[in-house]
Amino acid sequence: MTLDITADGVIKTRLQNLKQATTGDHQHIDDMVMEMAPFESRDNYARFVGMQYVFHRAVKPLYDASDLNDLIPGLSVRSRFDHVCADLADLQCSLPENTKPFPVPKTGMGRLGWLYVCEGSSLGAAFLLKAAGNIGLNAEFGARHLAGHEDGRGKHWREFVDQVNGLALSTKQEQEVIAGAIAAFDFFRTLLIEDRKLAA
Ligand code: HEM
Repeated sequence: MTLDITADGVIKTRLQNLKQATTGDHQHIDDMVMEMAPFESRDNYARFVGMQYVFHRAVKPLYDASDLNDLIPGLSVRSRFDHVCADLADLQCSLPENTKPFPVPKTGMGRLGWLYVCEGSSLGAAFLLKAAGNIGLNAEFGARHLAGHEDGRGKHWREFVDQVNGLALSTKQEQEVIAGAIAAFDFFRTLLIEDRKLAA
């Protein structure tokens, strides 16, 4: 496991560093999602799932990349893209059109940052799943992609954390991972901004 010792002597893992480096980005996304009131109506929620569709589809090639699966065994089955598609079908929504090229890197360790953002979003999803109950949705209908893994949400996440923390990376690659996570949050923010314009 790679550890980082800060000036005040606190030892942090790679994932703890990533969380710290992106706390502000996450908070911004959290605030913007809540502003669109996704659990006030099924129409609002469908807009949110549309964004999840674009995001999870963009990240899907990373889940399928063979070099990343060598580094993180079982990565390919972690993708929740199929669940997002099933949610859109439950809501009788057509699949959003691809209007823009995705800024997702095809090579390099920045991809780990993108995967961190996608995997980490399954944690907050516990709260969102509860709220989805307000509009009659649950883990079997309409909010499948927010459901926890059958092994347990926390356990599934910790497995990913241990796998990523266990990788040997150079300083340059560490920086790429952080930049990748920031870019992934930026991408989701772009989707929220576009949605806001359309809804205005
Ligand atoms: C209103 C929407 C959201 C809320 C309320 C929310 C809330 C949360 C909460 C409470 C956690 C921490 C859970 C825990 O430690 O047990 C978390 C973690 C996380 N969320 Fe969100 N989230 C939201 C949306 C998103 C989105 C859209 C993304 C990705 C684009 C995202 C990415 C992450 C990541 C990467 C983590 C893991 C942080 C870490 O522990 O390293 N979240 N979220």
